[in-house]
Amino acid sequence: MRILLSGCEGQLGRALAVVLPSHGELHAFAKADFDLTDEAAMRAVLDRVHPDLIVNAAAYTAVDQAETEAALAMAVNGVGPGVLAGWAAAHGAAVLHYSTDYVFDGEGTGPYRESDAVCPVNQYGASKLAGEQAIRDSGARHLIARTSWLYDGAGRNFLTTIRRLAAEREELRIVEDQFGAPTSVGWLAAATGRILAGASGPTLFQGDSGGVLHMAAAGITSWHGFATAIIDETRRRGFPIKAERVVPIPASAYPTPARRPHNSVFALDRLRGEFGIAPPPWREVLSQVFEAMPCGAANI
Ligand SMILES: NC(=O)c1ccc[n+]([C@@H]2O[C@H](COP(=O)([O-])OP(=O)(O)OC[C@H]3O[C@@H](n4cnc5c(N)ncnc54)[C@H](OP(=O)(O)O)[C@@H]3O)[C@@H](O)[C@H]2O)c1
Repeated sequence: MRILLSGCEGQLGRALAVVLPSHGELHAFAKADFDLTDEAAMRAVLDRVHPDLIVNAAAYTAVDQAETEAALAMAVNGVGPGVLAGWAAAHGAAVLHYSTDYVFDGEGTGPYRESDAVCPVNQYGASKLAGEQAIRDSGARHLIARTSWLYDGAGRNFLTTIRRLAAEREELRIVEDQFGAPTSVGWLAAATGRILAGASGPTLFQGDSGGVLHMAAAGITSWHGFATAIIDETRRRGFPIKAERVVPIPASAYPTPARRPHNSVFALDRLRGEFGIAPPPWREVLSQVFEAMPCGAANI
């Protein structure tokens, strides 16, 4: 199977680039060579590589900036995936695309199922929802993997930001009334690999084996709970830390240009039942991510 990976320099893209070579001949592209806003260039690459599977890890992910760059966010997240999927439909290829908890408004009280009504509350969420719809409309075999609260041990994300701030400040003030499940890109990439190992060729994502799938670690926490766990792990491993207090604050005390859902928790029954993947507790995965960090990773 020939696999085209887009967004290979993003945090998820880097993790997928490690896993995907076990599942086929990987052709990985960064933005410079596969820009989702450049339809002609994309088509030229697709015609040349002629993939059996397109894995789209590229996205416009600057949630707050998207409020003032809505057209660009829509071009990358809403229109580009439709171009990919249109090519896939015309050439019998399959599409694996990543989407987000931000397609929901977060007003629901329980975990969100794949079939629950969507209603994004910000421009980023609206652009990601448009991408989902464009892929569905293309008629291509597809899996849209919605995930949440992605992080890694390196790069720029919540974990590395909290570690940096905890080394610089005595007090951190972190939002306590938004809930979700932190999900490491390493786990998500490995789980993606398991899905690909389960089926390939023309049956991949055919009919009931495709559609929308919620993929996240198990359990629930708040940003405050996640930050506290990061600081505990950092301290336990002897990395330098200055923070003595992690003060819980409501989201209303931390205004941002984009509104964010209060509830980002996914129901993971489809992942468990149909794909046979038992998501590990988020806290356990966090420890593993720390375990894998090189000793010098304190200076991030
Ligand atoms: N991060 C999260 O917490 C989170 C949560 C839920 C869902 N997701 C979804 O998970 C997927 C992976 O996210 P991530 O955290 O890995 O994001 P990321 O680290 O921001 O990576 C996205 C990659 O896409 C590239 N990109 C941006 N514009 C592009 C364009 N026009 N054409 C091609 N590539 C472009 C970026 O390049 P530049 O950096 O050079 O712009 C970057 O390398 C995305 O679909 C995202 O919506 C993420």
